[in-house]
Amino acid sequence: MRENWTSKAGFILAATGSAVGLGNLWKFPYTVGMNGGGAFVLIYLFLVFVIGIPLMLTAITLGRKTQLSVYGAYKSIDRRWTFVGALGVICSFIVLAFYSTVGGWTLYYFKTALLGDLVTTDSEALQKIFHDLMTSPGNLIFYQTIFLLATALIVLKGIQQGIEKYSKWMMSSLFILLLMITVRSLTLPGSMEGIKYLFIPDFSMVTPTVLKNALGQMFFSLSIGMGSMITYGSYLSKKINLLHSAVMIPILDTSVALIAGLAIIPAVFAFGFEPSEGPSLMFITLPAVFASMPMGNLFAILFFILVIFAAITSSISMLEIAVSYFVDERKTSRNHATIITTSIIYVLGIPASLSLSGYYPINVGHLSLFDLYDQLSSNILLTTGAFFMTIFVGWVLKPKNAIAEIESSSIHFRLAPIWSVLVRYVLPIAILTILIESYRNFFQALFH
Ligand code: TRP
Repeated sequence: MRENWTSKAGFILAATGSAVGLGNLWKFPYTVGMNGGGAFVLIYLFLVFVIGIPLMLTAITLGRKTQLSVYGAYKSIDRRWTFVGALGVICSFIVLAFYSTVGGWTLYYFKTALLGDLVTTDSEALQKIFHDLMTSPGNLIFYQTIFLLATALIVLKGIQQGIEKYSKWMMSSLFILLLMITVRSLTLPGSMEGIKYLFIPDFSMVTPTVLKNALGQMFFSLSIGMGSMITYGSYLSKKINLLHSAVMIPILDTSVALIAGLAIIPAVFAFGFEPSEGPSLMFITLPAVFASMPMGNLFAILFFILVIFAAITSSISMLEIAVSYFVDERKTSRNHATIITTSIIYVLGIPASLSLSGYYPINVGHLSLFDLYDQLSSNILLTTGAFFMTIFVGWVLKPKNAIAEIESSSIHFRLAPIWSVLVRYVLPIAILTILIESYRNFFQALFH
C-alpha cells in the first residue's frame, strides 16, 4: 500500500516546503541583482503565471494518476519515455550535490551566529567570514555532511512521519520570521533605493540571457522539471483538489521569493554592497541588517535556523525522487534506498564544495564543479525535463486523460481548454525557444 499524505494541507505544506528553499532566500535575490532588477522580477512573475502554474498542475496530475516515482510515472504510460524519468533521477543527484554545499554554508553561518561572531555592519569583516569559509575544506565538508545526514534522517522516516511532519512545523515557523525580518529591512534608511531596484523595471536590461535565467530560476524555485512534484503528487489520494494545490503552491513560493528580495535587496543599498555580488549576497548582507537592529544576534540565529529549515524541506524532496525510484522500481526497502542514494550524493557533493576552495580548485572547462552542477541543473536539465513533460502530457498521455484525472475528485476544470492548448502548443514552443539559448550559453560558459 502506497503511503498518502494525511491531508490536503499536509500535501500543500510539504510541496510548498519543496518549492520554498535556497532558491527563494539565497538564489532569487542575487539572480535579480545579476540580471538588472525590476525587469527581471516582472518577467519572472509573468513566467510563473503562464508557464509555472500550468506545469505545476501537469506535474502533480502525472504523479497522482500513476501513483509512481518519476521514473515509473513515465514508464508506466509509455515505455519509450522512460528516459525522461531517468533524467529526473540523475538530475536529483546533481542538484542535491550542490544544494547540500550551500546547505552546509547555512549551518556554518548558524554556528557563527550562535557564537556571536556574525553580526557586524563592517562590510570587510563580513566578506572575510564568507571568504574564510570558502577556503576551509574541513568546515565545508563537515557542514555539508551534517546537512545531508539531516536530510537522509527525515526521508528515512517516510512520508507521514518524516516529510510531512517536518515540513509542517518548519514551514509554519518560516513564514512568521521572514515577515519580521522584512519589516526591519524595509525600515532601514536608504531602503527605498532597493525597493525601486526591485519593482521599477528597466527594460533596456532585458536580453535573451535574462529571459533564460528567469525561466531557469522559475523551474528551480517551483521544483519543476526533475520530478519532485511528480513524486509528491504520487502520494496524493484521489480525493484531493489538484487545481487548488497547483495554484496555491506557486503563489506561496513566489510570495516568499519576493519577500526575500525585499528583505535582502534594500539592505544591500542601505549598507553600500553591490546587488550583483553573486552567490555570497545573502551571506554578507543579511548579517549587516541584523547588526542594525535591537537583539540583532538573536534574529540572526533565528534567521539562519529558518534558512536551514527552508533548505531541508527542499532537499528532502530531492532525495525522495531518488529514494522513491529505488523503492518502486528496484524493490529495495526505504532504509536501503536512503543509504544508497545519500552515499552517491555525498560522493558527488564533496568535490563540489571543495571546487570553490582555493586549495582544491576542481574545474571542468572554465567552470568550477560547483558552478557546473548549478548551471547544468537550473539552465539545462530542469528546462529539458520540463520541455519533455509538456510534450509527454500534451501528446502521449493526452490532455483529455489528464483532465479526467483532475476531474476525478469531482471538480469541474473550467479552464481545461486553455490549459490543453498551453500544454500542447504554447509551452513546448516557448520552452524550446529559451532552451536553445540555454544550451548556447552553457557551452559558452564552459569553453570560453
Ligand atoms: N525549489 C527548491 C528551492 O527553491 C529546490 C528544489 C527542490 C528543486 N526540489 C527541486 C529544484 C526539484 C529543482 C527541482 O530551493
